[in-house]
Amino acid sequence: MDASIPAALVSRIRGLKSFDPDTTATHASTGAIIWLTGLSGSGKTTIATELANALRRERSGVCVLDGDELRRGVNSDLGFSPEDRTENVRRVAELAKLLAGEGLIVIAALISPFQKDRSNARAIARTAEVDFIEVYLNCPVDVCEHRDPKGLYKRARTGSLVAFTGIDSGYEVPQEPEIVLFTGVQSAGESRAVLLEFLHDRLTRI
Ligand SMILES: Nc1ncnc2c1ncn2[C@@H]1O[C@H](COP(=O)(O)OP(=O)(O)OP(=O)(O)O)[C@@H](O)[C@H]1O
Ligand SMILES: [Mg+2]
Repeated sequence: MDASIPAALVSRIRGLKSFDPDTTATHASTGAIIWLTGLSGSGKTTIATELANALRRERSGVCVLDGDELRRGVNSDLGFSPEDRTENVRRVAELAKLLAGEGLIVIAALISPFQKDRSNARAIARTAEVDFIEVYLNCPVDVCEHRDPKGLYKRARTGSLVAFTGIDSGYEVPQEPEIVLFTGVQSAGESRAVLLEFLHDRLTRI
């Protein structure tokens, strides 16, 4: 067990409606979609991975849908025009809905820069009565650019990458996310702990 997760919180996670200590039959569980949105470098993949690892210590049936990986496969035909970004988000939402409908906790991590696309993702989840938890990773663009874990900001600045979110393509700040993580000033561990705490309270209500 991760020593950084308080014992009290762990015991409360055990109380998740979807956590059944006597079986691994997650198909009887209640799924949910945890949708991480934010600029490139805001920490979506980092938090998604850490969150999945933390939840997996307490239950099975957790999966991550990461934007980068999906763009290498299922969405490899899509680019970065507004239309393609919309389709990218729609496909991920449809996949997430199916998986959550099977009882999985689905952590979707993609920039998803446009409000209408995120609203559509939420509406898609609603068609299957799947809980949709929008998590906004609030990190100033200058911090993201300084981190530049994949060198993308540098390429965007030199013009070898066009339509890059935060540089020459817009990011619409979520209007009503379920939770905001201030990943520009917190450590990844702190952000993960805040999100876990929130999810406990939220997931016991579904
Ligand atoms: N509070 C925090 N939460 C998440 N990541 C953080 C935090 N503080 C610092 N970091 C660092 O910021 C970087 C975030 O990179 P990451 O690949 O997770 O971003 P991303 O949002 O997935 O970007 P992209 O959209 O390009 O895939 C990592 O190097 C991570 O260690
Ligand atoms: Mg990522």
